[in-house]
Amino acid sequence: MIKTILRKPVQFTGNEDVVVIPLFEGRRDLKGPAKKLDVLCRSGISSYIKTTNFKPALGKTAIIGFTQSKAPTHVMLLGMGKTSRLTPEILTAAGGNASRTLKSRGFKSCHLLLDESFTGESGVGNESLYSFFKGFALAHYTFSLKSGRAGVSGLRKVTVMSDDAGTVDAAIKKGKIIAEYAGFVRDLVNRPADDVTPAMMAEEARSLATDHGLECRVMDLKQIEKLKMGAVLAVARGSRREPRFVSLHYNKGTAARNGVPKVCLVGKGVTFDSGGISIKPWQGMNEMKGDMAGAAVVMSVLGAAAKFELPVEIIGLLPCVENMPDGIAIKPGDVITTYSGKTIEIISTDAEGRLILSDALTYANEFKPDVIVDLATLTGAVIIALGTRIAGVLGNSQDEIDRLVAASRTTGESAWQLPIDDSFKEIIKGDISDYKNFSGRDGSTITAAALLGEFVGSTPWVHVDIAGTFWAQNAKVPYQSKGATGFGVDLMIAYLESLAAEKTK
Ligand code: BES
Ligand code: ZN
Ligand code: ZN
Repeated sequence: MIKTILRKPVQFTGNEDVVVIPLFEGRRDLKGPAKKLDVLCRSGISSYIKTTNFKPALGKTAIIGFTQSKAPTHVMLLGMGKTSRLTPEILTAAGGNASRTLKSRGFKSCHLLLDESFTGESGVGNESLYSFFKGFALAHYTFSLKSGRAGVSGLRKVTVMSDDAGTVDAAIKKGKIIAEYAGFVRDLVNRPADDVTPAMMAEEARSLATDHGLECRVMDLKQIEKLKMGAVLAVARGSRREPRFVSLHYNKGTAARNGVPKVCLVGKGVTFDSGGISIKPWQGMNEMKGDMAGAAVVMSVLGAAAKFELPVEIIGLLPCVENMPDGIAIKPGDVITTYSGKTIEIISTDAEGRLILSDALTYANEFKPDVIVDLATLTGAVIIALGTRIAGVLGNSQDEIDRLVAASRTTGESAWQLPIDDSFKEIIKGDISDYKNFSGRDGSTITAAALLGEFVGSTPWVHVDIAGTFWAQNAKVPYQSKGATGFGVDLMIAYLESLAAEKTK
């Protein structure tokens, strides 16, 4: 964890290791504290900009060394791009660029000069300032199971210099918390599936609940059998590792007592998706250790909501199973009876997410929530449709879909709606059963969602398909490393904030 200190008012001592100055394109003249610093550096900063014709495009950085006694040892110029193109995602990237560059140059401490031109409305503005700190912290995330002693690398201390202490302090706190909880998701997704089994997911949920004062209930195989959650049991049958069904509860009873919104969050918790009997090809199968990313996000969001003390009641439901091709595994052609009583024919055992979610969504309805949101690495097709930067959003309530998409715009996590209309209801119908779990590749993000929609009744429901966004194939995005992204935490907190703000009006 990087220690962050806020220094106000902006003053330079000459002992600074490196002072980071964010610059916007088209605004290269140094003003205010940056100008003062330039004087201490005997115009070294402004003349560097002039002589090298430094253009502060996003992703551009420059480090200048100084020897003057009153000057810092280094100044780093951080390209922010054009203010007109500034979005929370770009801001997250800028924070990531700063942090990554400093780390690669071996700095242990730095000073971030965030004057009025950066924090004010003509710069970043209050709302999204936290994204910068989120990106800064996320870029320092590492995960390694390499042997040998891991050396401590990267920044240990950041001093933020700003005259707008209130705004900046709140943004630092929020950015760090979001990054910490996204880091929790990244860890769970990056850890091998032998280590993150359904039983381990339940242990993680338990300890998160203890740390955050949440209620936690774990159902084991016997209890899941007793409830007749046929779909969870069907998928779990293929593995020797028994399933768990975890419920977490934050602010229990406050919806009834204080009228706050009651939300059910459901997360797909497939701790490894081999495909089962419809086994997957080897390419990328290792990434299927992260097929519980939805459940990890839900867990993490309950923790973060508790940390932020959000005025909402949240029930988190995590069906956790391993999808494997054991001797008694479900087979294509089998028909299962779900918790709701409806039957589904298995066409592909690899379409397992929608099975376990169908039981979890039926169960979610029993809490009579105002809204259900599920997060799932559900379909490969969402990657074809939207790529790896944007999550797919579908559901039965346009208002709640709109709220989620609007919330996503305030974060660095994009979401885009795909349509479900009645024609898809026809496609998912079974020949000998109520439904089939797969009906061909065409529009298969939508058919998967349409099947889920059959289990939510009339409760407003939003489905977020994170199969494209949960994993980064490389470290091209400055705040991501290869592997888990932690996508969904920021988005869901923004969504819950919006829900809380509207209902308490
Ligand atoms: N877990 C996968 C979806 C997935 C794909 C997640 C890529 C992350 C990255 C899901 O269970 C699955 O296998 N979906 C298949 C279903 C089909 C083969 C029946 C899909 O969408 O390709
Ligand atoms: Zn699958
Ligand atoms: Zn899956």
